[in-house]
Amino acid sequence: MTIAVAPHLPVTSSRTVERLVTGQATSDGAGVKLTRVLTQNLQHRLDPFLMLDAFGSDKADDYIAGFPDHPHRGFETVTYMIAGRMLHRDSAGHEGLLQNGGVQWMTAGKGVIHSEIPQQEEGVMEGFQLWLNLHSTEKMNAPWYRDFQSEQLPRLQTPKGVDVTVIAGDSHGVRGAVTRDITQPLYLDVHMPLGSRFEQALPAGHNAFLYVYRGEVRIGDQTVPEKRMAILDNATQADGVVIEASTDAKLILVAGKPLKEPIVQYGPFVMNSQEEIYQALSDYRDGRLGETA
Ligand code: CO
Repeated sequence: MTIAVAPHLPVTSSRTVERLVTGQATSDGAGVKLTRVLTQNLQHRLDPFLMLDAFGSDKADDYIAGFPDHPHRGFETVTYMIAGRMLHRDSAGHEGLLQNGGVQWMTAGKGVIHSEIPQQEEGVMEGFQLWLNLHSTEKMNAPWYRDFQSEQLPRLQTPKGVDVTVIAGDSHGVRGAVTRDITQPLYLDVHMPLGSRFEQALPAGHNAFLYVYRGEVRIGDQTVPEKRMAILDNATQADGVVIEASTDAKLILVAGKPLKEPIVQYGPFVMNSQEEIYQALSDYRDGRLGETA
C-alpha cells in the first residue's frame, strides 16, 4: 500500500557529503560475486552498521552457487532482494522465499546457521545485504526472523513524485516494516524522478549514508554518481538530508544510532571482545551455536 504524504519540508539544514566510497569487488558464500560497499574499516565511522554488500548480475554463474550453511552470531542481517528469488533456511526452524522486492530481517543473536540458495537458473539477481550490530546486552538473545513480501512493505509517495519504501524506521510519518529501540535504524529505498527533491529528517548524532544504484543525485553541490556510497557528515546543526535527482535515480538511504562499543569481528561473528569470539568459535565447533534450546 502506498500512502500519499502531504507537502512537508522536514529539513531546514541539510547534511553534506563527507566522503564518496567506491565498493570493492569480492566474492562470498560458494562464489557469489558482489560489491562490498561498507567494508570493515568503516565499521566505526558508520556504527551501528557493519557491512553492506551490493549484488547485481544477469549472469547465473555470478550467483548460482549461493550461500550454503554458515553461522552468524552477535548482529542482524537485512537482505533486500530487488530482483530474483532466494530460499532461506535456518537452524531456528525458519524458512522463507525471498523474492522481487521482498525483505528478510534476521537477528542472529546468540547464533543461527543458515543457507541462502538461489531459486533461479537465469535472469537478473539484484539486491543488498546490510549487517546491523546488536548492543552488548542483546548479542546473546534468541534468534528472530521475519520476511516481508514486496506488497507488505510500507510505501509513501511525496507530492514531488518520489516513491519511498520504508524498510525500517520512519519517513514522513510512515512507520517502517521493522523498528529497533537501541540502534533506531532507518532503511529507505528511494526512487526519484529527474529533477525531484527528497528530504529526510535525521538526528545529528546518527550515522548515515546512501548508495545510488541507478542514475545520479546531488547533495548540496556534491554529485553522487551511480554505484557510489556517500557518507553523510554529522554536522550538529543539520537536521536531515536534502537529495536532488540529476537523472531518474534510485538509492538506498540508511541511518542509525551508534552503539559506541568495541567491535571485534571474526568472519560471521561480531562480538565485543576476543574472548567472546573464541567462545563463538568453540560453540560452533561443538555444535552448540545453532541449538534452539
Ligand atoms: Co548469512
